[in-house]
Amino acid sequence: MIKSFIKLLSRCYALAIPYGRLRLFGVLGMVFLNGLLQLIGVTSIFPFFALAADPERIRNSSAGRWFLHFLPPMSTNHLLAVAGTFSILMLLIASVGSMASEYVRIRYAYSFSQWIRGQLLRSYAMRPYGYFLHRNSALLSQRIQDIHSFTINVLLPLGEILTRLVLISMLAATVFYVQPFVAMGAVVLLGGFYLMAFLWIRPRTRKIGEMIQRHNVGFWKNTNQFLHAIKTVFVHGKTRYFIEKAIQHSAETTKQQSLIPIYANGPRYLIEPIAYGGLVSIVVVLALQGKPFSDILPNLMVMAMAGYRLLPSLQLLFGQLVAVAANNYTLVQLEEEILAIEHESAVVSSNGHLVSGKLPFLKSLSLEGVTYRYPGSDQDVIKELSLSIEKNESIGIAGPSGSGKSTLVDLILGLHSPSSGIIKVDAEPITQENISCWRSMIGYVPQDIYLLDDTIAANIAFGIDPKTIDSNALEEAARGAHILDFIRSLPEGFDTVVGERGVRLSGGQRQRIGVARALFHSPEVLVLDEATSALDVDTEKAVMDTITQLNGKLTIIIIAHRLSTLEKCDRTLRLG
Ligand SMILES: Nc1ncnc2c1ncn2[C@@H]1O[C@H](COP(=O)(O)OP(=O)(O)O)[C@@H](O)[C@H]1O
Ligand SMILES: [Mg+2]
Repeated sequence: MIKSFIKLLSRCYALAIPYGRLRLFGVLGMVFLNGLLQLIGVTSIFPFFALAADPERIRNSSAGRWFLHFLPPMSTNHLLAVAGTFSILMLLIASVGSMASEYVRIRYAYSFSQWIRGQLLRSYAMRPYGYFLHRNSALLSQRIQDIHSFTINVLLPLGEILTRLVLISMLAATVFYVQPFVAMGAVVLLGGFYLMAFLWIRPRTRKIGEMIQRHNVGFWKNTNQFLHAIKTVFVHGKTRYFIEKAIQHSAETTKQQSLIPIYANGPRYLIEPIAYGGLVSIVVVLALQGKPFSDILPNLMVMAMAGYRLLPSLQLLFGQLVAVAANNYTLVQLEEEILAIEHESAVVSSNGHLVSGKLPFLKSLSLEGVTYRYPGSDQDVIKELSLSIEKNESIGIAGPSGSGKSTLVDLILGLHSPSSGIIKVDAEPITQENISCWRSMIGYVPQDIYLLDDTIAANIAFGIDPKTIDSNALEEAARGAHILDFIRSLPEGFDTVVGERGVRLSGGQRQRIGVARALFHSPEVLVLDEATSALDVDTEKAVMDTITQLNGKLTIIIIAHRLSTLEKCDRTLRLG
């Protein structure tokens, strides 16, 4: 148990170091300081009760006399008032310390988690395209949401745990100093009780964590699929199927989540009678030993006060350990992702700048003996393909569905790396360093166009701040894609919002916006992957005419299943 707790701490530490050493140590220092203030607060009541129980005692002890020597002479009652005021003041300072330390901890936890979220998104941005082909987007969103649960269930509790641990050890040390036997008894009784409870609960919490995670992903997967496929779901009458599945997953998640506080709070109801029992036994034992009550009282008050602080602390500590144990999985995964990015960014910086590599394209794009097989598959989709495309040539690629046309395009776009063989621009192979330079020359229209829930202008300019969009370029691109007239006919023109995934447009309109998007940046290479398949014959012909007008001005790679679409190309290649 201690081993896994230390592992947890070192994991968090590994994450927190890149975030900022200074900040981390600031927070830890605050936690320690808070412990100290609490200790002073608790022990400051000792003189007051000692005085109340036996006013003459202080004047009879040498330490007391030495201490009184610093104060102006005063009556016993006066002294009592001073001691009382002092203890109140100390408790007040301790409370302010608690508040300040809590503030620092919570601020730290949230800004730390904000940083992790940024790092995680950055780590996704650095992944190769293939990474996303193997993961359901619900899982990736889940990871991002996990950061929230990591903050609430791991990071904040961990801060609390440390605070409590510091406080508990200081209090325990004090009680030990005052009453060693009592302290030992308390450690055995309370510690033993909580240890047993934790050992019993721990395997259960691990299972809870796994279940929560699995069903959360299941819930979001079904919900997202239902929302994304809403049309098909309605028409096929499958609403119940998707909804019920999502609800089942959700019910399982919440059931598991509710178990965490139940387990965490359970021991609380037992610990109070146990601790009170301990206190009663102490009084009885001391009384049996014949100790005068005035001796017992101040010690007892400190112990009661220590217990008053200790018990909730112990209980909180326990509850949070349970929560952390149940949510440990979020940490494990975040660590994998974040440390991977640390590693990758180190690789990138050692290779020099990732984005600055130049890749001039003056003569040709050539594929030499390119073979590609999807990871985990046992068939080559592209086999020993050699092909040279001259600059400003237009080439058509035809072939039955599944023959590898899109895969070929993805290879040219550098989304996949060939399993063997090489792709060169002029004489330079495409590499991680120059890929962004190569891509910046390409206008690409994919088979399935993704439209943003934004204006037509934002969709054509894609990823450019709306204020800086060049409206001439916009119109030019729209004209080229044969959609300018349609856009102008809309009451809001280029500012028309298209809806999520462009639901307010027809399939053909969406494709033409996709074509306009590819033309917008005046690319040197235009890649169309069945970009005109959803258009009617006349519109397709019109779009293709515009594109063939570009023949000789740029390099064009067109995939189409209608051979007539490829008529005007300089050359056609058949796959499959
Ligand atoms: N991510 C993937 N993992 C494994 N196999 C894939 C993947 N994507 C496509 N394929 C397989 O590769 C083959 C070619 O697909 P694709 O290039 O999309 O064909 P086309 O565009 O010619 O219709 C198909 O047999 C398909 O099953
Ligand atoms: Mg395809």
